[in-house]
Amino acid sequence: MLLCMCSPRIRPGPHAMSPFTAMGVFCGLFLPLSLSEYNTLNCIPRKSVLYQNNMKLFREEGIWNYSTMLVREDLGLLLLGAREVVYALNISDISIKKAVVYWQVTDEKQKDCKYKGKHAEIECRNYIRTLHKVDHSRMYVCGTNAFSPICDYMTYSEGKLTLENTLEEGKGKCPFDPFQRYSSIMVGNDLYSATSINFLGSEPVVLRSSNSSLRTEFKSSWLNEPNFVYMDLVPESMNNPEGDDDKVYLFFSENAVEYDFYNKLVVSRVARVCKKDMGGQRTLQRKWTSFLKARLDCSLPEPSLPSVVQDVFLVKDSDWGKSVFYAVFTPQSSSSDVSTVCAYNISAIGHLFDTGKFKTPVTVETSHVKWVMYSGEVPTPRPGACINNAARSHGMMSSLDLPDKTLQFIRDRPLMDDAVPPLTGRPLLVKKGAKFTRLVVDNVLALDGERYAVLFIGTENGYVQKAVNYAGEMFIIEEIQLYQTPDSIKTMRLSSSTGQLYTGSDYGAVQMPLSDCGRYELCLDCVLARDPYCGWDLSAGLCSDVSNSKYASEITSYFSGKIIQSLKEGDISKCPKSG
Ligand SMILES: *[C@@H]1O[C@H](CO)[C@@H](O)[C@H](O)[C@H]1NC(C)=O
Repeated sequence: MLLCMCSPRIRPGPHAMSPFTAMGVFCGLFLPLSLSEYNTLNCIPRKSVLYQNNMKLFREEGIWNYSTMLVREDLGLLLLGAREVVYALNISDISIKKAVVYWQVTDEKQKDCKYKGKHAEIECRNYIRTLHKVDHSRMYVCGTNAFSPICDYMTYSEGKLTLENTLEEGKGKCPFDPFQRYSSIMVGNDLYSATSINFLGSEPVVLRSSNSSLRTEFKSSWLNEPNFVYMDLVPESMNNPEGDDDKVYLFFSENAVEYDFYNKLVVSRVARVCKKDMGGQRTLQRKWTSFLKARLDCSLPEPSLPSVVQDVFLVKDSDWGKSVFYAVFTPQSSSSDVSTVCAYNISAIGHLFDTGKFKTPVTVETSHVKWVMYSGEVPTPRPGACINNAARSHGMMSSLDLPDKTLQFIRDRPLMDDAVPPLTGRPLLVKKGAKFTRLVVDNVLALDGERYAVLFIGTENGYVQKAVNYAGEMFIIEEIQLYQTPDSIKTMRLSSSTGQLYTGSDYGAVQMPLSDCGRYELCLDCVLARDPYCGWDLSAGLCSDVSNSKYASEITSYFSGKIIQSLKEGDISKCPKSG
């Protein structure tokens, strides 16, 4: 019935009462395991759904690289950016195209790009990489434009997509290189982007494009051959007793400066900047005064090189301090095929940045630099901190008022000494096989009145792993093959209100419902799936979707025993005997 035991679930407590407890399959590592036990650890999905021709697919002949998506629930659209084209698709059925706008490179641009040594047909094209909402009908869109990035505004009205032809400079906002990872978000009218600002891709920046533009310092201690994967805003000024600022968090991997290693060693990082940062007056002019970064830890108990972050998703809570970042990691050594998921508490990250020790470079021998913990005096205001009530009470109303001592300190030491530990102290999920590429997370209200994080993880062979976090113990409900050929999933978006997931690959975009409870024909199957979207309806004799809108009436049915759902225990004792 159950396919695997990811880790033995021997835990005293009320669960132990259920006869089915022993069959629980969990992928988390909540018990201290010995190395040999650990080696066998590999989470296997309870159900595997092979490719079927019933998923909604969008692709157009001759068009490739469906890599950028924007969900507009307000317009009922999925905006899809591909190579030299943007589509507006019906959000409920993406095989229905509502509008399209082509954005091709000019012959001149393409020639120029080819002349500089790039592949004319592959690299010298316009890959749409940025799609952001601006207002009710407008979007901001950028493309690589044959290694000469440009941006424009795009409107959707009367069923038509139109580029406004403002043709803004895209340098620093969008990568030159279509193969380079990058990240950006729109906050109000400001675009925050993390990418390379030059043709060679050798000058990384974290940039805010606004009336008061800010950027990172060109120093390897700030960014060292980074690979940017994700960015999001956390509204930390909300109900904040310290009068702190909103912050933009950035996730990336880069070459470590802090380890002595015979080779390049890649580490994963989280960094953040303050939204109201204005840069410094003399030191750090037009540069971030609040750029702080720390290593992200998601290590396996067995010795291995640090794993590399591939994608992140922020599960927002109305109380921002309870928000959680989920991240997928892959190994940096090609000899391993173990992907992992770790979660990080926003307060733990904040605590580290607000109170942790810094690292500092010291020169050993003649020219060799080592990064060690800084144990000297730290100036006030604390380097890297946003302007808060305490700073304001000393007359510092913006970062322009910060003293040079604070600014020089942070310019030279943006890295924290400690790493951010994962929420449960270890990975939530460990899986061998096709590497994880992207993830999105839905926060589902189940019939027991609790919310559970359901992770949809894309893989490099075109599968989605649907996994759920039951209080730090993860379980893969099912894996679904979305692409007939092993296509790497390059983008994923979620629409909770329509209950749909969208994935994009080089080949096409696919739409998948967040749940397909009808797949479970028996009560036993339905309950053992432990899918928070599904419950067994005793009167109808069906496994039905009990999530979201239908919730209110069905919670009553659940408590009166008419609907069976047993997420944590997988208890089938209430199922009809004949089933
Ligand atoms: C675009 O798709 C084609 C066809 O699959 C692939 O060969 C190419 O590498 C892709 N380009 C990028 C930038 O990913």
